[in-house]
Amino acid sequence: MEKLLISGPSRLEGEVRISGSKNSALPILAASLLSEGTVRISNLPHLNDVTTMIDLLNCLGVELLIDEKLGIEIHAAKIDEFTAPYELVKTMRASILVLGPLLAHFGQARVSFPGGCAIGSRPVDLHLRGLEALGATIKIDGGYIEASCENRLRGAHIFLDKVTVGGTENILMAATLAEGRTIIENAAREPEVVDLAHFLVAMGAKIEGIGSATLIIDGVEKLGDCDYKVMPDRIEAGTFLVAAAATRGRVKVKDVDPSSLESVLAKLEEAGATLEVGSDWISLDMEGRKPKAVDIHTAPYPAFPTDMQAQFTAMNSVAEGVSTVVETIFENRLIQVHEMNRMGAEIKIEGNTAFIVGTEMLTGAPVMATDLRASASLVIAGLCAQGDTLVDRIYHIDRGYECIEEKMQLLGARIRRVPD
Ligand code: EPZ
Repeated sequence: MEKLLISGPSRLEGEVRISGSKNSALPILAASLLSEGTVRISNLPHLNDVTTMIDLLNCLGVELLIDEKLGIEIHAAKIDEFTAPYELVKTMRASILVLGPLLAHFGQARVSFPGGCAIGSRPVDLHLRGLEALGATIKIDGGYIEASCENRLRGAHIFLDKVTVGGTENILMAATLAEGRTIIENAAREPEVVDLAHFLVAMGAKIEGIGSATLIIDGVEKLGDCDYKVMPDRIEAGTFLVAAAATRGRVKVKDVDPSSLESVLAKLEEAGATLEVGSDWISLDMEGRKPKAVDIHTAPYPAFPTDMQAQFTAMNSVAEGVSTVVETIFENRLIQVHEMNRMGAEIKIEGNTAFIVGTEMLTGAPVMATDLRASASLVIAGLCAQGDTLVDRIYHIDRGYECIEEKMQLLGARIRRVPD
């Protein structure tokens, strides 16, 4: 299994182009199952998770054309298979997002029950309750979710007990073809949910309240063709900006939507960064200064995103001062702290809070990645460490960051992939 070798310390300087958003691409690919026509999707990131979702669509019998830039043309109207198999779902939980579209368009779906992962149990009860409210019959049999509906799904007034990105997306997709009106209260407002809603509207869906916590969907008979470009990956952009702040560097990220990162940019300014923002770019300059420690409290959008927590934990471990990081979304998402402490970080965990005392310099060490964003935070820690850091289990990082070592090398990092 390959590893990433980082020789620190490195200061990141230069420009980097941001890829399409993983967490927008995955629901949009799943939503293509709703269309009677042909959808063309561009700006898909070259990531293992996107490949897995494409494999899943193939498995369902979808007609697919993929060009050399990973632009994809999908025609799903005539599929004859409705099962998302365990072998695929176990590698990517987001496979659950085909449940709503298959049910709404074909009246049936059989999806392997997604397990938990390193960051938490990741239940899908809210997905299932929402789809049942729309009239689906759902049972669990042999580790599979078996969902069906006699005729069309029927619109309903749904109150989500918790803000759930995937739950909102599954119910939203299903509601576009349900009979009548669906109202989703306490809906997730993440930019990726907004991007999905725009894709659905482009296919002919009727959705109001996009970007708000109350989505109103008037079901239509069918959805048709569309051409759609996936939004930029705000978490990839945020990751490079935090890495620049942690290494006292100067980086410009291009092809990004600054409005999707406002809570993150506020924290970077609090850390002492000088920021400039354009229509599709953000530049950060530490002017050689050490970052100041900043307190983090994750919560649903527009508050600070949980997907940026691990990266800021790494920055705080080499920042000036003390800080707390409170993780409120997932029950086990401070797990990367233990690996950072092996690099000389001074972090204590009590419940869902990490207490961090900034140190002058970390020390390179062999470390192990546990999940996608934790692996990115270990790369950042390696950039801030004296000596070599060898990050193991980097298949996690390949799920969510396109060519991370090439992009980091372009910014001056001494980082390379090494065989086991
Ligand atoms: C999405 O996961 C993202 N993944 C995650 O990004 C992200 O961290 C998360 O949203 C929160 O923003 C994709 O979009 C593919 P949730 P999702 O449902 O939809 C609980 C990354 O690193 N919950 O919003 O699975 C759940 O346990 C990944 O790119 C229920 O209790 O997250 C969690 O505590 C990691 N019942 C909270 O809600 C449910 O039915 C938020 O989860 C569903 C969720």
